[in-house]
Amino acid sequence: MAGRKLRLAMAGGGEGAFIGGVHRMAAALDGEWELVAGTFSSDAARNRRSGEQLGLSPDRVHDSIDALLTDERARPDNERVDAVAIVTPNHLHAPMTIAALNAGFPVFSEKPMAMNLAEARAIAEAARHSGQLYALAFTYSGYPMVEEARARVARGDFGAIRLVHVEYVQGWLSNPLDREGNKQAQWRTDPARAGLGGALGDIGTHAFQLAEHVAGLKVEALSSDVTTHVAGRMLDDDVNVLLRFEHGARGTLRATQVAAGEENGLRLRIHGEKGGLEWSQMEPNTLALRWLDRPAEIVRAGGPGLSPTTLPRQRTPSGHPEGYIEAFGNLYRAVAGALRNSGPAEGGALGEATWFPGLEPGLRTMAFVEAVLESAKSDEKWTAFPAITGSS
Ligand SMILES: NC(=O)c1ccc[n+]([C@@H]2O[C@H](COP(=O)([O-])OP(=O)(O)OC[C@H]3O[C@@H](n4cnc5c(N)ncnc54)[C@H](O)[C@@H]3O)[C@@H](O)[C@H]2O)c1
Repeated sequence: MAGRKLRLAMAGGGEGAFIGGVHRMAAALDGEWELVAGTFSSDAARNRRSGEQLGLSPDRVHDSIDALLTDERARPDNERVDAVAIVTPNHLHAPMTIAALNAGFPVFSEKPMAMNLAEARAIAEAARHSGQLYALAFTYSGYPMVEEARARVARGDFGAIRLVHVEYVQGWLSNPLDREGNKQAQWRTDPARAGLGGALGDIGTHAFQLAEHVAGLKVEALSSDVTTHVAGRMLDDDVNVLLRFEHGARGTLRATQVAAGEENGLRLRIHGEKGGLEWSQMEPNTLALRWLDRPAEIVRAGGPGLSPTTLPRQRTPSGHPEGYIEAFGNLYRAVAGALRNSGPAEGGALGEATWFPGLEPGLRTMAFVEAVLESAKSDEKWTAFPAITGSS
């Protein structure tokens, strides 16, 4: 693989799709990858058009993942793809991923890992059995200032961590967009294509992975409240969770897509014995630090005082936003590095340039979805509040 670009195939990401285009931009960012093959849509005409628009040779554009994998396996080494990106709706993640792994191809999959934990375990089994790399697009861990936050917690700047609060607040599903023809809304609110969780699976999984990744702590127990506000919707659109982490830390996770007017409000706050940090995805270059014994600090991407593991994850001088595409690009670069160096199939150690999210966060986020839904079935944690008024 030395001295050449890595060859990428893509499943999903046809005309009008959201995340496929982001993957293509991110993969192209460092010149490490070229897209050479794909199956972009279940609609044959749309699939062909998408391949043409992307400038692919028609014989590398296939009607199904099986046709793509069969063709790639038959190609000589100097043509065969090095990895497959899976950017379809959730119900196809497990079957496509398992097929690709079993055919001998590394996979970079979109989140959530699968529809449920059982499917996620089947992916993990296929990854371990095949020995192929499996990466998962938990994009936010690719941001430089998320790495800075993780590194500072890990080196003990804040002392033992006591509080971990994460929220992912969107408003775009405040109305039943799925009934108004919005494709992205349609599959996200359909249990047959989204999986067990609505907002929970779509953005709650991002929030959970970010919280555990930066805090360096695992959740051990939780208590949840799961609501569907939009009438007729079959999956949750609003989730509130109390979290108990290992070593006594406590926290909360909110994930909602009906906070009318909100955009992509992912925010993480972590506090230890000596101080805390705050990072917000819509201000990605800023990491705020607050201390018990001294004034607050603002640490900025591109600025002074950054940890050595943050530096390779930033691309521009200070003042230029290190955004979503760049964060995604960092994951693509890490996967490329791992493949070129024949690195571990689950990525390098945390902080290393070849680290990427893989099986463990995938499995843990799917377990989180199931635990939240299980907890929400019970009303035992609720205490009725007395109807006190001014006169009684
Ligand atoms: N990591 C992130 O930040 C992030 C952000 C958005 C979406 N996602 C994830 O990306 C995935 C796709 O989301 P989206 O918003 O781009 O959806 P989308 O509906 O915009 O795109 C899905 C694409 O998959 C294609 N597709 C469907 N069935 C197919 C099949 N059988 N074969 C080939 N292609 C097929 C569709 O034609 C479409 O092009 C989801 O799993 C979602 O959770 C992740």
